[in-house]
Amino acid sequence: MEHDALPFEAHLEARAQAVEALLRRLLDDRLLPGEIARPATLLAAMRHGVLNGGKRLRPFLVLESAALFEADGEAALRVAAALECVHCYSLIHDDLPAMDDDDLRRGQPTVHRAFDEASAILAGDSLLTYAFDILADGATVLPAERRLALVLGLARAAGLGGMAGGQALDLEAERTAPDEAGIIRLQAMKTGALIRYGCEAGAILAGAAPEDRERLAEFGSAIGLAFQLADDLLDLTADAETMGKATGKDAAAGKATLAALHGIDWTRAQLSGLVDQAHALLEPYGERAAMLKRAANFIAERDR
Ligand code: IPE
Ligand code: IPE
Ligand code: MG
Ligand code: MG
Ligand code: MG
Repeated sequence: MEHDALPFEAHLEARAQAVEALLRRLLDDRLLPGEIARPATLLAAMRHGVLNGGKRLRPFLVLESAALFEADGEAALRVAAALECVHCYSLIHDDLPAMDDDDLRRGQPTVHRAFDEASAILAGDSLLTYAFDILADGATVLPAERRLALVLGLARAAGLGGMAGGQALDLEAERTAPDEAGIIRLQAMKTGALIRYGCEAGAILAGAAPEDRERLAEFGSAIGLAFQLADDLLDLTADAETMGKATGKDAAAGKATLAALHGIDWTRAQLSGLVDQAHALLEPYGERAAMLKRAANFIAERDR
């Protein structure tokens, strides 16, 4: 890997294709034991919200964190797909009229625009539930205690004290601007929690030592914050065509972001500090962590 000349995007794309193939299988019309029917419109809405060309960055983090402990096999792929289902659900609901009211996602109409609001709400509900189905299914071959830790970790990252809670704080922030600590906390929740989980999940599924698990989680927190800082920067600076979603929305909504508070130069400096911090956390793994380090760079420097 030391002399790997392939651009990071090529590695991301290769992992994305493997995850996408699995997501396609998970979202086909074959019934699982215990399912009574898969309503066609709901399934189509779910597929629209998932199989629409996301970067698949969170799955990448699961797989590369697992690869650090030589465990990036089929179980890791399923954990990666489960996390992507939660992420896609969060995007479908984030775009709803009651939330950010967006028409464009990943370059296509949002789920409530392509279908209707009820379908978008139910597609989100079903994807969130499906994530836990995927983890609990015996096809995710892992020792029971690791599977339980993965389920608990995803629940904590996605729910009240994680992503959903962060989304609530984010909407409140449009009315009452939080201070800097408040912004950092809400970002750690709405975006950071799932990214942190992605990194920690690789260590959990591999049965890594508790200190490795903690180290990967901390790495995830650093790049999670970087991820949202970059997203806010792109909301200020990028165009909708490149991003595949509307930009300039945060300022229009009066949303307090660190990029809006401190400006573009400060945000870029902050991003590079977070990348250094993330790299330092991976030092004990040497060259084995090269791809995760590149992921940290990509997150801070990304242009879409
Ligand atoms: C967008 O996430 C939502 C945020 C948490 C800022 P991504 O930029 O990872 O979106 P996709 O999955 O590639 O579309
Ligand atoms: C969304 O943050 C975070 C989640 C979906 C949990 P944003 O609202 O900034 O994401 P985009 O910009 O719409 O992708
Ligand atoms: Mg939002
Ligand atoms: Mg949004
Ligand atoms: Mg945004």
